[in-house]
Amino acid sequence: MPKKIFSGVQPTGNLHLGNYLGAIKNFVDLNNDKENNCIFCVVDLHAITVKQDKDQLKNNIRETTAAFIASGIDPSRSIIFNQSEVQAHAEGSWMLSCMAPMGWLNRMTQFKEKAGKDKEKASVGLYIYPILMASDILLYDTSHVPVGEDQKQHLELTRDIAQKFNKDFDCRDFLKVPEPLIQKDFSRIMSLKDGLKKMSKSDPSDLSRINLTDSEDEIINKIKKAKTDSFPIPNEDQKLINRPEALNLLGIYSSISNQNLNKTLDEFGGKNFSDLKVKLAEILSSKISPISNEIKKLISDKQYLDKLLLEGANKAEAIAGKKIKEMKKIIGF
Ligand code: AMP
Ligand code: TRP
Repeated sequence: MPKKIFSGVQPTGNLHLGNYLGAIKNFVDLNNDKENNCIFCVVDLHAITVKQDKDQLKNNIRETTAAFIASGIDPSRSIIFNQSEVQAHAEGSWMLSCMAPMGWLNRMTQFKEKAGKDKEKASVGLYIYPILMASDILLYDTSHVPVGEDQKQHLELTRDIAQKFNKDFDCRDFLKVPEPLIQKDFSRIMSLKDGLKKMSKSDPSDLSRINLTDSEDEIINKIKKAKTDSFPIPNEDQKLINRPEALNLLGIYSSISNQNLNKTLDEFGGKNFSDLKVKLAEILSSKISPISNEIKKLISDKQYLDKLLLEGANKAEAIAGKKIKEMKKIIGF
């Protein structure tokens, strides 16, 4: 069955290996299947739920677009656009926020993490962020949403909102209930400095992540400095319990090599981390450096990227604009 794919990435800079292995690599595979209809969105409205620098935001929108293409998404076979160019997203978000009970939003763990201790100071936008995400997805009759594991709860909320809207307005199947597509293994890539913390754009230590714009030397250096433990690499996965840094590095190796953990353990079991690190740096450089070079090349051609985003927005508008009109009619406007 052909799939209708929608996913989004925030233009908040420092796109990293977690974004690539958890989400973008999957976008590329789905886009390579010619049967699928794919839409990839640079979610700039989501980005402003926390403070952004005005000029930096514009650059980051282009950089995220460039990263999609440099990673292998074919713009001639997908729609790539930025969210703020298509009004329906914000409009849909408002209408859905009037259906969604606060109790559902109060359960969102990402808000709790991002808002930190002083929730009173977090923006209202950050609180209703998952509703905007539901609007993004539901406006395109999306069947599948490829995301990293941290978005699973938001996807469940999207499904609940779609079902509630259909029930409240007695319009069965008007909003399509989407399925999440989350990698089975290593759907959460951890920091190179702390195996219990997610690899993240906002970690103050650049050594905690491999950026998609890192050079070969930077990748080698970061892997060299990655935290490990003092035991050798085991032969079986059971022996990786309570060894989060070891599991993370072996997981990254498995994921980038498209092989399962047992195969990686067959290769490295009994060896030292220095052996794994040499091979890991090698394969990461061979996969990430070409993406990094291509991003830099694409980013220097602002006109190309802006034109692509504009064309994408026109195509997205045609789909989402129609859906929002139907939604308004159903509501009674
Ligand atoms: P964001 O940068 O928050 O917009 O995330 C873009 C995509 O990358 C989402 O699908 C996330 O779930 C995914 N992602 C972000 N960080 C990680 C990570 N450390 N491991 C796996 N996937 C991730
Ligand atoms: N919330 C997602 C993240 O932080 C980004 C996002 C926004 C998204 N809208 C989406 C992902 C729609 C998938 C579908 O990673």
